[in-house]
Amino acid sequence: MRKIEASNSFQQKDEYTIFFDNSLIEFNDFVSRANYSSVFILVDENTKEHCLPVLDEQMSTSFQVIEIKAGEKNKSIQTCTQVWSTLLENYADRKSLMVNLGGGVIGDMGGFCAATYKRGFDFVQIPTTLLAQVDASIGGKLGVDFKGYKNNIGLFKNPQAVFVNTNFLKTLPTKELRSGFAELIKHELISKNGQWDAYQQIEEVTVDAVVPFIEDSIALKNEVVTSDPMEQGLRKILNFGHTIGHALETYHLDSEKHLLHGEAIAIGMICECYLSHKLTELPPYILEEITIYLTTLFGHHPNLMQDKEQLLKIMQQDKKNNGTAINFTLLKNIGQPILNQETTHKLILESLDYYNSLSKS
Ligand SMILES: NC(=O)c1ccc[n+]([C@@H]2O[C@H](COP(=O)([O-])OP(=O)(O)OC[C@H]3O[C@@H](n4cnc5c(N)ncnc54)[C@H](O)[C@@H]3O)[C@@H](O)[C@H]2O)c1
Ligand SMILES: [Zn+2]
Repeated sequence: MRKIEASNSFQQKDEYTIFFDNSLIEFNDFVSRANYSSVFILVDENTKEHCLPVLDEQMSTSFQVIEIKAGEKNKSIQTCTQVWSTLLENYADRKSLMVNLGGGVIGDMGGFCAATYKRGFDFVQIPTTLLAQVDASIGGKLGVDFKGYKNNIGLFKNPQAVFVNTNFLKTLPTKELRSGFAELIKHELISKNGQWDAYQQIEEVTVDAVVPFIEDSIALKNEVVTSDPMEQGLRKILNFGHTIGHALETYHLDSEKHLLHGEAIAIGMICECYLSHKLTELPPYILEEITIYLTTLFGHHPNLMQDKEQLLKIMQQDKKNNGTAINFTLLKNIGQPILNQETTHKLILESLDYYNSLSKS
């Protein structure tokens, strides 16, 4: 059994454990020992079908299932109202437990519902997507979207524990697996894990190919959020690729070419590596290496950036900025992120052109 001790200083004694491998056995032990008054498992239709039977097999405690509709558009206060109503109808109290069995949508929203109902009761994360395993389930950020703004209502609160079981990834659609892999690549590029060469051996994103990298990726995220729980400094290194990537994702939210988060971040990382080359001395051969790697895995989609001025406007509204200056985390080299970089609109547009012109080079 491997596990990582996690702790955040934003609440005293707020320590929790991230379990791997036999984590579902650990989960059952945890629930059996804790003597909760009632256990609720939050699922969507996909995790109900693919993940709940696996968890159920391991559980010796009785539980009630709360099902919500899958997808980001349901990460809303309206859905929370349904969850809170079900909790109320089933006499949930402050000695209850919420088990969030799903991707980042379930984890963020289930955690938020539990942390606010009757001023909060315990919850645990059982992340079932790659993105949720290495990113969303770690760091205590909870919340829902509001009036078109992502994660606009929420809070910081840690779970009692996180149970990571990579077997769940076997039923995840390939597109979702690949999208989550963008976050592992980001973690590698900002960390001193030293596995970039091993990453470059991956030509196609499959469960077997990604599983060996998951533990280090979680450890990196945990280390960063533990040292900066409230996002005042170091945590910003996690924004690499996300200033441009997030703008692209927002730009396409309502379009037919709906981009998954990781697909947008992959493009964002290429553009921000270009900025890094211009502003923070990222060597040209590393820029080329990262560009080739990401376009091999994620393809090349120059048609995604038709209205570049609109993209700039979205970047200016990013909550990571100070005022209207657009804030970037760039790279000096692999494993050497540099925070709080600002640049001209001209250079940002040039970085988009760099991406768009790739196929011609
Ligand atoms: N809290 C944080 O720090 C943090 C960090 C990053 C992202 N997020 C949030 O995470 C969310 C995205 O998470 P996501 O990418 O996991 O999306 P998701 O939760 O929407 O899951 C993606 C899809 O996969 C399905 N699914 C989940 N597990 C499955 C499995 N094992 N087999 C088959 N299907 C499965 C889901 O039903 C859904 O349709 C966003 O809302 C984002 O804001 C939060
Ligand atoms: Zn991300």
